[in-house]
Amino acid sequence: MDYLLSGVIGYLLGSVSCGLLLVKLICGIDIRDYGSHNIGATNVFRTVGARMASFVLLGDLLKGVLALYLVNHYVSSDLTVLILCATCAILGHSFSWMCGFKGGKGVATGLGILLYFMPEVAVFALTIWLATVFVTRYVSLGSILAALAAPFSAWYLGYDGRLVAFVGLCAAVVVARHYQNMIRLKNGTESKIRQGHWKK
Ligand code: G3P
Repeated sequence: MDYLLSGVIGYLLGSVSCGLLLVKLICGIDIRDYGSHNIGATNVFRTVGARMASFVLLGDLLKGVLALYLVNHYVSSDLTVLILCATCAILGHSFSWMCGFKGGKGVATGLGILLYFMPEVAVFALTIWLATVFVTRYVSLGSILAALAAPFSAWYLGYDGRLVAFVGLCAAVVVARHYQNMIRLKNGTESKIRQGHWKK
């Protein structure tokens, strides 16, 4: 019962698409019709601007943390139950019922979950992300490299094998969700980060 409940809480909260909801509510547009068509903070930044992107980033980050907090306090504090909740939150974000079982790339939600479980790994991954984006201006490349680095740093820092396997699974989801970005990076057509100024 604990497993079922934690999976449902994770999936339902992960499914809440902050990019889709906030941009529709405040700007009246569907973010999926613009830029990379992604619902994440990067596309909100390039389409609408920094302020809205920071709300989306925070919302997507906190929903994973909230799911874990709720399960930890009201369902079970067993690590396997919590990992199941976190996995379902990432899957909920990437295959959201709200977006017709499509969704985002799992980076912000994954970062929130890493901050909850393994703050050192989160800081390491964030450093890789920042350095890559600063040097190349490609957010997608930063996300891919940060995702790939996370399981290795979790393993190196001696985290429980279940957590290392979980981070490995999340990294696989994040990299797979960047498939189109990888094609654009290879073809030289990926957009570099640049703030947009959408006007009604
Ligand atoms: O977190 C998503 C980012 O890595 C790529 O976003 O909109 O450029 O596909 P986007």
